[in-house]
Amino acid sequence: MKNIYKNSQSNLSKAKRILSKNNVIAVPTETVYGLAANAYSSKSVKKIYKMKKRPRKNPLIIHYHNLKDLKKDAYLDEKFFKLYKKFSPGPLTYIVRKKENSKISSIANSNLKTVAIRFPRNKIIKELLRSLKFPLAIPSANISSAVSPVSSNDVLDEFSDKINFILDGGISRIGLESTVINLCGKTQILRPGAISQKQISKVLKKKISVSKETTIIKSPGQLKKHYSPGIPIKLNCKRADNKAAFIVFGKKYKNNNKNIFNLSRRGNLEEAARKLYKTLRKIKNLGFKEINVVKIPNNKIGIAINDRLKKAAY
Ligand code: TXA
Ligand code: MG
Repeated sequence: MKNIYKNSQSNLSKAKRILSKNNVIAVPTETVYGLAANAYSSKSVKKIYKMKKRPRKNPLIIHYHNLKDLKKDAYLDEKFFKLYKKFSPGPLTYIVRKKENSKISSIANSNLKTVAIRFPRNKIIKELLRSLKFPLAIPSANISSAVSPVSSNDVLDEFSDKINFILDGGISRIGLESTVINLCGKTQILRPGAISQKQISKVLKKKISVSKETTIIKSPGQLKKHYSPGIPIKLNCKRADNKAAFIVFGKKYKNNNKNIFNLSRRGNLEEAARKLYKTLRKIKNLGFKEINVVKIPNNKIGIAINDRLKKAAY
C-alpha cells in the first residue's frame, strides 16, 4: 500500500535519512502508532504540532533508546531508577525535570521545566532509535483529540497522503497509550495505561494515586475531550438504542447482530484494550451515528479502557 514501508534494513535506513533531514514519519510502538521527529530540532517538532493540529501547550513524549542518552537531558532520581528497572523498556512514561542545558527543543516540552520520557519496547522503533544520534518526539499519530492509530492503515485513515512514510510494524500489541507517571512534585499517575497503579505502588512501596481531573491541568492529556471517534458515545448501557453501534464485552453477548461489536468474547481485558481503538474507528467508518457501550470491568487495564471511554464520551 502507498506510503507504507515494511520493516527491512533498507527501509530503516530510509526512515533514518528522513528523520535526519528534520522531517516527520509514522512509526509503530507497542502501545499505539506515533508521529516521530528529531526531538533536538525545533523545526522538526513544529511539523508534528502542525500535522496533528495540536495546541503548542500540549507537550510531547521524548523516546530514548538508552539511559546514557537520557542522562544528558534530564535529572533522574531514585524513584525513577526503581521504576525504570522494573518497567522499561515498556509502556511507562515518566515526567522528570529537564536539564537546563538539555538539547531537547523547548517547543517539544511546551517550555515547561519538566519533560515526558519513555523507552519503547517494540523492536522496530528500538532499532531505529539505536541508529540515531538524537531522541525522537513521538505523540500518537492522530489528529489532536481523535482516536489513536494501532496499525499503519489507521495512520493513513488519519492523515491520508499528508504522511508519506509509515514504518509498518503490524498491530500494536497493547493498543492503548502508555501509563504516564509524574515524578516531579507529587508522585501521581496522570494517565492510566497497561502498567497499573497497583504495579507501580508495589515497586515504590507506597500507594500511588491516579490524578482526578482538577482545574489545574497537570497533563494536557487530561483534557476532557480526547480519544474521540467524532460521534456521540453513551457508557454503561444495558442494551443499545435503535440504530446505535453496541460495544460489548464477554461471552454473554453471543448474537452476531451487525450492530454488535465484542471487544473480547472470552472476557479478557487485554484483548479488549487491544481492540478498543480499532473498534471505534471501524464503527465510525461504517457510518454509525452513535455508540453505546456496556459497563467494562474497572480493574487492571480496564481502568485505562474506562479512562479513554469516558474522555471519548465527553
Ligand atoms: O504510548 C504512548 O505514550 C504513545 C506512543 C506513541 O509512545 N505516545 C503518546 O503521546 O501517547 P501523546 O502525545 O499522544 O500523549 C502524551 C501525553 C499527553 O497527555 C501530554 O499532555 C503528556 O503526555 N505530557 C507530555 N509532557 C508532559 C509534561 N511535561 N508534564 C505532564 N504531562 C506531559
Ligand atoms: Mg495522543
